[in-house]
Amino acid sequence: MPSGADIIRRMHFRVMQSIRRRGVGGSLGLVPGFVAARLKGDPERRFDSRFRVDTAGILKPTELQRDRYFKDSNWYAPVATALFRRMLREVRVDYRDYIFVDFGCGKGKALLLAARLPFKEIIGIELWQTVLEVAGRNVREYTGKRQCQNVRLQCINAVDFRFSSDPALYYFFDPFKIDVMSRVLANLRASLIQWPRESYVLYCEPERHDVLNAADFLIPVKQTSHFAIYRTCSPANLIEAPRSGWQS
Ligand SMILES: C[S@@+](CC[C@H](N)C(=O)[O-])C[C@H]1O[C@@H](n2cnc3c(N)ncnc32)[C@H](O)[C@@H]1O
Repeated sequence: MPSGADIIRRMHFRVMQSIRRRGVGGSLGLVPGFVAARLKGDPERRFDSRFRVDTAGILKPTELQRDRYFKDSNWYAPVATALFRRMLREVRVDYRDYIFVDFGCGKGKALLLAARLPFKEIIGIELWQTVLEVAGRNVREYTGKRQCQNVRLQCINAVDFRFSSDPALYYFFDPFKIDVMSRVLANLRASLIQWPRESYVLYCEPERHDVLNAADFLIPVKQTSHFAIYRTCSPANLIEAPRSGWQS
């Protein structure tokens, strides 16, 4: 059972996230739906008890306080199952040809949901060792449907991820601030020049649409208030040098 402090922390996190994204007026409009959902019970805890895993809760990465990337890291929270499914439905590809990479996988909720689909490989990247260990347990013990057994976890900073030549779905659930995001995107861009391939960027609960919209190698496919999907453009349209302001 979550403690009172845990519940208040979660509420505060969600309210601030919503106000940042939708403003006060837009957030107030969500209250009736929120109350109705609470009356039905917490779907994230239901997911955990149904599949014998531990993904729910909101955690501040306090252990990373001494890490120089701490200030750019967002808190851990699991993606909502319905939202993840809705987002994936928009990417109409043969999953068997693609890898799925979760930048900031936390306790691995999105990895478990992705493993229900026949991806070629699933990679979870996480800076915070403690939650990554929980993700490892979850991946081993998950009792739900599974079509991809090939799940790999890496305890690294997202900026150090080495892209490969595989077509991929690159997934981000509001993991870090925009400086880190820009560096990851610059690495992705460089890798597309090195290994031309069709890939997708899925940005869930985006803090900033504008940075991705401005990227010269991303074509918007779908944008809602909860997620944005982009397809990488043909490398023939990419110039070698990143536009000014892009870091690599
Ligand atoms: C909102 S959670 C996303 C959880 C998961 N992706 C999901 O969809 O359920 C964001 C995660 O990103 C991690 N994170 C933050 N900065 C990071 C970085 N620079 N590199 C790797 N992971 C990072 C946090 O520790 C946190 O666990």
